[in-house]
Amino acid sequence: MINPDIESYAEEHSKPESVVLQKLYRETNLKLLHPRMLSGHLQGKLLQFISQMIQPKCILEIGTFTGYSAICLAEGLPEKGMIHTIEIDCELEEYSRKYFKEASIEGKVKLYIGDALHIIPTIDETFDLVFLDADKKNYTKYYDLVFNKVKKGGFIIADNVLWSGKVLEKPHPNDRDAIGIIEFNKVVQQDNRVDNLLLPLRDGLMVIRKK
Ligand SMILES: C[S@@+](CC[C@H](N)C(=O)[O-])C[C@H]1O[C@@H](n2cnc3c(N)ncnc32)[C@H](O)[C@@H]1O
Repeated sequence: MINPDIESYAEEHSKPESVVLQKLYRETNLKLLHPRMLSGHLQGKLLQFISQMIQPKCILEIGTFTGYSAICLAEGLPEKGMIHTIEIDCELEEYSRKYFKEASIEGKVKLYIGDALHIIPTIDETFDLVFLDADKKNYTKYYDLVFNKVKKGGFIIADNVLWSGKVLEKPHPNDRDAIGIIEFNKVVQQDNRVDNLLLPLRDGLMVIRKK
């Protein structure tokens, strides 16, 4: 969504990614389909900073992929903090586990392999921060599922809420992802229990604070 020259300039004027994140980015791009799903340099840095500002004890991530955003979010965890992260694709586990180890956060990560819709209700925790980044068609379901597990004053951050600008158009009836994102944005905007900011970074981040 950002002019590529502006994005390059912003990257050149932001501290570089760690060596581990650079390796993870490279391997994801070399070996996997849809490597653009990974958060990347600028968004990863923002997630790192948000986590360091909030200092969460417990984080939930929905949609691990190869572990990039989980590693960024884990930067704000205290010694005994934990990030719970859920991924449906078991073939990605070898990548995320390898990089959690390389980033020395394997003791702070609980990785679940399976459908987040089934797994979230089984996690008996209260979260300070939730990062929502799985299948877009179910965003509102995830929001409803996690809401009571987020502490008062806690944050939910949802990725891709601009969906490459498709939120401005009437969605095709078969485009369940676009329909899901548009519905989610509307639900959050009308929800008096939260304060929210749609940040137009990359593909759009909805930053939600539970009142
Ligand atoms: C955009 S990627 C996540 C990127 C990652 N958060 C990052 O920034 O590096 C979305 C991931 O969600 C996973 N996913 C899709 N549907 C899911 C579901 N129902 N439960 C858990 N994970 C799911 C996909 O397999 C994919 O790896």
